[in-house]
Amino acid sequence: MPSPKCPLIAGNWKMHGTLPEARDLVAAILRALPGLGGARLLLLPPFTVLAEVAKLIGGTSVELGGQDLFWEDKGAFTGEISGPMLRDAGCRYVLVGHSERRQHLGETDATVNLKVRAALKSGLKPIVCIGETLEERRAGKVSAKVDAQLEEGLRGVTAGEVGQVILAYEPVWAIGTGETATPAQAAEVHTHIRGRLAENYGNGPASCAIILYGGSVKPANSYALFKEKDIDGFLVGGASLDADAFFGIAREALRADREKK
Ligand code: PGA
Repeated sequence: MPSPKCPLIAGNWKMHGTLPEARDLVAAILRALPGLGGARLLLLPPFTVLAEVAKLIGGTSVELGGQDLFWEDKGAFTGEISGPMLRDAGCRYVLVGHSERRQHLGETDATVNLKVRAALKSGLKPIVCIGETLEERRAGKVSAKVDAQLEEGLRGVTAGEVGQVILAYEPVWAIGTGETATPAQAAEVHTHIRGRLAENYGNGPASCAIILYGGSVKPANSYALFKEKDIDGFLVGGASLDADAFFGIAREALRADREKK
């Protein structure tokens, strides 16, 4: 089993994957897995294929998460999925506050906070997505934006719980656009985030925290990004739908990781 300090490569399938497509993609991933060694792979497929993917990856090192959850465990909330339901489907992780949900589905820092707390209560590790828009970057408001998202999104999360929280810095302008933050731009924000965690929770939890980068990650840019000291893994969208590209990213991250140590 890869250790928790290995690069974490998470594949956010977004709204892609019928059952046959999911089966094909997982089969390709499992074929490539024995040659990888070291990285932790996490799949975040749509709800409708979670149970099937859980079955297919059972007994391997590949892990599973949902793309969202609701903050109540059950009740009259038509269309929603709860933490206990995700656990039941085999998940140990859940994305919270992805920018596409913030943009199209009314997700706010307040709902992100409710979801983070619900995930922790259900024994799921929330992967909390934060990041600025292009306008905010141009206006010099990157730190202010991520600070506000961290402050609101993690409100009430204790030092004992924060080790279960994974952060994903995803500049909105880099998601699905082919435009990636430069390694230096990403590193600056990752170091800032780790600094904020240290102020709020102490150096121990901050140094152990996993901070992923996301936004047009591909095999060609993952080595240079992962070389940066505060980048612990990737949240991959488009490229995670192609097993070759997904493994290319994981291999490049592992190569950079070996050189970092
Ligand atoms: P992308 O998506 O890799 O397609 O840019 C990343 C994400 O949205 O998590």
